Amino acid sequence: MKKVLVLNGPNLNLLGTREPQIYGRETLADVERLCQQTGAALGLEVTCRQSNHEGQLIDWLHEAGREIAAGPMIGVVMNPGAYTHTSIALHDAIKGAGVTLIEVHLSNVHAREPWRRHSYISPVARGVIAGLGLQGYVLGIEALTRL
Ligand code: DQA
Repeated sequence: MKKVLVLNGPNLNLLGTREPQIYGRETLADVERLCQQTGAALGLEVTCRQSNHEGQLIDWLHEAGREIAAGPMIGVVMNPGAYTHTSIALHDAIKGAGVTLIEVHLSNVHAREPWRRHSYISPVARGVIAGLGLQGYVLGIEALTRL
């Protein structure tokens, strides 16, 4: 069975109560359940992880790169949270480890503050999905199966 890793970055553990007018009422557990259901329907093993720590996310990306190179993993769906706009280290990890990655944002980052329009992740992402809420994760997982 092929594998997909779903990574969520900082503050996404607060989903449900964090600015619900922007991010909705669904919790991280709801996101992860939906990803598991999507994986089950597509015959994929989906692992979901969340961290507020950049180094932890980098370690998981390195692991994913090794699994992609070895064959069992088809890619990563990642919502890097605010690290999207700040993290050269995540950019370098994705590039350096050779990770096939779909960047997902719940909100439409292009319709918000100007500084949310810049992403350090997009240049090393295979694709980018923004503004479609939880469906972005579903579409990201489906996209990985079609690449
Ligand atoms: C986000 C958008 C980011 O700008 C923000 O910092 C987040 C969440 C989104 O899912 O819309 O934490 O990635």
